[in-house]
Amino acid sequence: MTDADRRPRIVALPGDGIGPEIVASARRLLDAVGEFEVTEHPVGGASIDEHGTALTDEVLRACESADAVLLGAVGGPRWETTDPDAPRPEQGLLGLRKGLGLYANLRPVRPSAALAHASPLREERIRNTDLLVVRELTGGIYFGDRGRSEAGAHDTCEYSVAEIERIAGTAFDAARARASGGKGARVTSVDKANVLETSRLWRETVDRVAAEHQDLELEDMLVDNAAMQLVAAPSRFNVILTENMFGDILSDEAAMLTGSLGMLPSASLGDGGPGLFEPVHGSAPDIAGTGTANPLATFLSVALMLRYGLERPGDADRIESAVDAVLERGLRTPDLCWVEPGRPPMSDVPAEVEVGTQEMTDAVIEELQRA
Ligand code: IPM
Ligand code: MG
Repeated sequence: MTDADRRPRIVALPGDGIGPEIVASARRLLDAVGEFEVTEHPVGGASIDEHGTALTDEVLRACESADAVLLGAVGGPRWETTDPDAPRPEQGLLGLRKGLGLYANLRPVRPSAALAHASPLREERIRNTDLLVVRELTGGIYFGDRGRSEAGAHDTCEYSVAEIERIAGTAFDAARARASGGKGARVTSVDKANVLETSRLWRETVDRVAAEHQDLELEDMLVDNAAMQLVAAPSRFNVILTENMFGDILSDEAAMLTGSLGMLPSASLGDGGPGLFEPVHGSAPDIAGTGTANPLATFLSVALMLRYGLERPGDADRIESAVDAVLERGLRTPDLCWVEPGRPPMSDVPAEVEVGTQEMTDAVIEELQRA
């Protein structure tokens, strides 16, 4: 069997909360798309319960030798603690990012037309919003020196020139790829250069790298201003390039433009080696086991996996179209059903039908098979 014939190997890490439910749905979707070899392993709280640590060496090894990794979510109140020495589910995710060298996190935000009215912002505000958050994922305050003493605690934010250069390269490449669709290659680099030394290095480095590329349009923006602009005028953004912590915060904010955090997928990539694909929403322990979790961000993450991780862009397009189609038909998990009290029903919007995880999964698979 040649390498091209072999079935792509996917490691699925369901994790905690709604993670197992949405990953089970994703596996059904994958079965409808083609033949994949999928193996499951525990991570996060599930791994703490089984092995006392959020990520075992064995699971990291399995991920390293896969073609792609699909993750559900980690964390939950069961494992929450302020004890600095106790294991925490999030260490599983951070260990995977560091261990697999996944320094580039891509979070595309494109509100679906059918959900425009579900956004907390007015429709005219989010119209034409189509942006990509490029978040640095293996540096900054997430990975710097930290500690606790009797009297206090500290976390350190550090960035090297090389780390900034490589994530800037990712953002510039992404902007160029998006520009082929008619838009210019615009990048907004977000920092806090008026206060932080790492941000001044960030700005200096990004500006220098951008100057080497004549086709790029770069603007620098302070993070507080960016947070404000994201809700005031989201459509002004194209690619947002930022460091780890700012990217964490801004991407949740940007996700709400789509009407629900339940819609945002993400891809974490390194240089060669498998990428990790996961929904942004987290483990939602409050609805775990109720059969109401929204599987769409996971399906869109599967699409990113097929596009960026397994070189199957056609299959990725098919999944994205199928998701759009079920939303157009009015199917909604409860998180998407939010309608502003007092707002009159809109005549051009199909009646919304509230469905659970299984029905939503069935509907997307049906659309996929119909196309
Ligand atoms: C995310 C999450 C993680 C992060 C947590 C779970 C560690 O919020 O992927 O955005 O902060 O990066
Ligand atoms: Mg986050």
